[in-house]
Amino acid sequence: MGHLLDALSHQNMSLRLLLLSTAFAVIIDQSYGASSPSASPIGKWTVSDENGTCITFQAMLSFKLSYTRTGDQDLSPPVTINVPVGAHADNSTCNTVFPGDPDIKVQILRLSFWGTWWCEFHFTKDKNKLGAPGLQQYFNLFQVIIYADYVANRTLFPNSNATSKEYYQTVNPSNGDGALAQILFAAPQHTFVCPSKQDFLVVQNPDGVAYLLMSNVKVQAFATTSDWMTSEICPQDQTPDDPIPVVAGALIAVLIAVTLIGYLIYRCRLPPETLHKTNPNSHFEEVAFDNQIDVLDDETSSETDSHPRLRNHPNGKH
Ligand SMILES: *[C@@H]1O[C@H](CO)[C@@H](O)[C@H](O)[C@H]1NC(C)=O
Ligand SMILES: *[C@@H]1O[C@H](CO)[C@@H](O)[C@H](O)[C@H]1NC(C)=O
Ligand SMILES: *[C@@H]1O[C@H](CO)[C@@H](O)[C@H](O)[C@H]1NC(C)=O
Ligand SMILES: *[C@@H]1O[C@H](CO)[C@@H](O)[C@H](O)[C@H]1NC(C)=O
Repeated sequence: MGHLLDALSHQNMSLRLLLLSTAFAVIIDQSYGASSPSASPIGKWTVSDENGTCITFQAMLSFKLSYTRTGDQDLSPPVTINVPVGAHADNSTCNTVFPGDPDIKVQILRLSFWGTWWCEFHFTKDKNKLGAPGLQQYFNLFQVIIYADYVANRTLFPNSNATSKEYYQTVNPSNGDGALAQILFAAPQHTFVCPSKQDFLVVQNPDGVAYLLMSNVKVQAFATTSDWMTSEICPQDQTPDDPIPVVAGALIAVLIAVTLIGYLIYRCRLPPETLHKTNPNSHFEEVAFDNQIDVLDDETSSETDSHPRLRNHPNGKH
């Protein structure tokens, strides 16, 4: 009996250790996962003409807007607007011209949502002074505009002194304006890829501030296909793979393996009777039963059941 209790407690220990290490693995996994961008829906939009799909834009998009209020000198606290995944790109264009010397060819993704709201993303790749020297052949995002219809969403923008506002920075793509151009750009026939969350200042004026928040970004412009092209990873995501999850995962795997192997070795070395008592469904059942039957036969010689194994199974057919 003491032997059995001993075996039980050891088995419980091993099981507990196994459970504990599994729980540990789950906790590590979840707490690590929590630091990555949340899993809300990612929108994907395309703009096409007869020459193919020029813009493909995938992202989680939000804006933070501050606005002026009647009777208040200060701007409102920022209001977050999540661009719905169902926003449509109907009024976008693959080919428009920004007049200048020379003219700049521009492609525009216009996302319309909530009936009256919209935001625009303007891309160019023509020779211009945007970005660092040598980037001229790259496509880049040089202009973002958001149209906020305060009145249509009064509860989000209480007390606004205007009915609506277009947030944008005045940008002349041919004279080197446009801070955004130095953030979102990629070589021709490449896809700009940036999984990290990024904030861009769209405009900061006394009568309004707008930030664009993006994550899980994949963009290509001046393309002819909606298939993703060669990835060009943004600087934020170019760091070598974070070692923490790898190390933690390896450690947990080793811990689980050691516990499991230790338990199995221990189990193999248990006398079959103990195994039967601790787990009647084990593979050792037959051995255990054969031993028991030997004992029974020796003691009483009465039970010569032709199916001794079935006695232990209430669900057995016999
Ligand atoms: C399609 O491509 C051709 C050749 O590059 C160009 O001449 C034409 O203007 C393009 N069509 C549109 C709608 O951009
Ligand atoms: C596209 O723009 C035109 C002119 O601004 C407008 O009349 C039309 O309703 C827009 N279409 C969509 C689908 O938003
Ligand atoms: C803004 O207003 C539109 C139209 O009334 C509505 O569909 C949308 O859900 C509103 N958005 C929010 C965040 O309340
Ligand atoms: C709203 O307030 C701002 C700043 O106080 C002011 O410049 C602007 O003219 C006002 N607009 C309206 C429509 O009252």
